[in-house]
Amino acid sequence: TILILDFGSQYSHLITRRCREHNVYAELQPCTVKLADLHFKPKGIILSGSPYSVYDNDSPHVDSAVFELKVPILGICYGLQEMAWALKGKVERSDHREYGFAQLQINKIHDGDSPVDALFRGLGEEMQVWMSHGDQLCEIPPDFHVIAHTRTAPFAAVAHNTKPFYGIQFHPEVTHSLRGKEVIGRFILDICGCRSNWTMEEFIGKEIARIREICGPKGRVIGAISGGVDSTVAAKLMHEAIGDRFHAIMVDNGVLRLNEAQQVYEMLNKNLGINLTVVDASDLFLSRLQDIEDPEKKRKIIGNTFINVFEEEAAKIEAAADEEEKQGADAKGRVEWLLQGTLYPDVIESISFKGPSATIKTHHNVGGLLKDMKLKLIEPLRELFKDEVRVLGRLLSIPAPLVQRHPFPGPGLAIRILGPVTREQVRILQQADNIYIEEIRNAGLYDEISQAFAVLLPVRAVGVMGDARTYEQVIALRAVQSEDFMTADWYVFPAEVLRRISSRITNEVNGINRVTYDISSKPPATVEWL
Ligand code: XMP
Repeated sequence: TILILDFGSQYSHLITRRCREHNVYAELQPCTVKLADLHFKPKGIILSGSPYSVYDNDSPHVDSAVFELKVPILGICYGLQEMAWALKGKVERSDHREYGFAQLQINKIHDGDSPVDALFRGLGEEMQVWMSHGDQLCEIPPDFHVIAHTRTAPFAAVAHNTKPFYGIQFHPEVTHSLRGKEVIGRFILDICGCRSNWTMEEFIGKEIARIREICGPKGRVIGAISGGVDSTVAAKLMHEAIGDRFHAIMVDNGVLRLNEAQQVYEMLNKNLGINLTVVDASDLFLSRLQDIEDPEKKRKIIGNTFINVFEEEAAKIEAAADEEEKQGADAKGRVEWLLQGTLYPDVIESISFKGPSATIKTHHNVGGLLKDMKLKLIEPLRELFKDEVRVLGRLLSIPAPLVQRHPFPGPGLAIRILGPVTREQVRILQQADNIYIEEIRNAGLYDEISQAFAVLLPVRAVGVMGDARTYEQVIALRAVQSEDFMTADWYVFPAEVLRRISSRITNEVNGINRVTYDISSKPPATVEWL
C-alpha cells in the first residue's frame, strides 16, 4: 500500500488514481492522520500539493515522524516544500503563481543505477510537465541533489543523496504532465518496490467473501438501484454473495430517461437474475414537483420523496420477511443491512482534513436514508474509483453499454427542464434526449464523451414549417469531456453529426423547432444547467 497524505490540493485524488492505474493499492489520508492509527504499514508515502504556503499560520503540516519511518517519500509541489521545510531547506514566498506547462530538463547526476537518478530513469532528458504553485524552493536541504530544473525553477526536482526521499515541483498526477504517470510508476514500483497486484479479479473474490462474512448465514440486505453503473455493480456483487437475500428497489420518479425503468428491469431482473422490484411513483413525484422552478427545491423534493417511497417499499419487504420468519421453515431472516454504492471519491471528500469542500449544488442521492429502521450500511465499492467499478462490472458480466454509461443525476430530467416539470415537458425532453444519445452511439462517439444530454429551455422561438409559422420551445445539447467532473471541456462534434441530430429532433419531437449546442466549459459553467 502507498499512503498519500493530502494537504488539500484539488489534484490529490488523482495521485491515488495514478497509483491504482499501476495496479498498486493506494490510500489517501488527511495529512493530519496519526501514523499509529493507520490500519496498514505503507511501503511508500506521497505528500500531495496544497493551496497553502508552508509559511501560512494555519498551513497544514505532517507528523515529522514520517521522515523517520525508513520508507521512500515523494513530495509533490507543496509536498516538496513541506519536506524541504521539515529537513531544513528554504522555501521562497512568492506573490505570483506559476500556472501552466513547463519543459523539465532532467539532470543526470550519476551513471549507472544510483538511487538518486531512479525517479526519472529511462524517461529521457526532457519532458513536458504541468506547474501550479506559488512558493518555490530557493535552497535545497542539506544532503539533497537537484535532479531536474526548468527555465524558471532551478530546483524543479530534488533527491536525497542517501535516503529514498524525492521532491518535485510539478504535478505528475495531471494528464498535462505527459509522462507523469510513468514518474509515479518509477516511485511506487522501482523505488518503493510495490508489486502490481491490485486487480479487480482479485477484488471480486475477496469482496464476495467479505460480504458473506459481514452478513452471516441469515439476514437480508436492501438497496436502491438507479440503473447506473455503481448501483448495478454493487447489486450484482451482493447477488453473487448472498443471492435472493438481497432485495433491490428501483423507484421510477417520473423523470427518468425514455423507457428507463423498463430497460433496467429487463437487464437486472431478467438478465442478471437480481431480485428487483420497480416502484412506479411517478404520479407522486410529478404532483410534488408541480409549479416548482427553483433547482434546489426540485432536488430537495425529489430527494425527500425518494426516501418516502423507498421506506415504504422497504417496510413491505420487512413485513414479508417477518411473516416468513413466523412461518419458520428456511426463512432468510430480517432486513438488517442497507446497500450503498458509495465510491472512493465520496469517502475522500468525507475525510478531508478541512471538512467537505464547498458544495456548489446539493447532490441528493441516498444520504440519511432509513434512520428509523436502524439498518447497518454495507458499501462494497467504497475503496474503488469509477474506472475500477467499470472494470469490475465487465468482469461480473454486466453488458458493456451499461458499464460504459454516462452518469445520470439523481434528480434526473427535473434539473434538465428549466421551468416547471410537467408530463408533457418530460415527454419532449425524453424524446429529444433519446434521439441525441442514439445518434451519438450511431456515430461511434459515445465512449469518447464523458457525459451527453439534452436540456429543455422553456422559451419560445419562432420557426417555420411548410407555410406556417411555429412558436415552440428550444432544446440545448450538452456534451463534455472530463476526467473527474470538477472541470470539463465541451466536446467538438463533427458538423454532420450535429446536423443529423438537429434535423431529427426538430422533425420528430413535437413542440421543438430549434436546437442549440452548448459551448461552455466548466468552470465557469457547470455540467448541468441547473
Ligand atoms: P455539475 O453540474 O455540478 O455536475 O458540474 C457534475 C456532475 O454531477 C452530476 N450532478 C448530479 N448528480 N445529483 C446527482 O446525483 C445531483 O443533484 C447532481 N447535480 C449534478 C452531473 O450530472 C455531472 O455528472
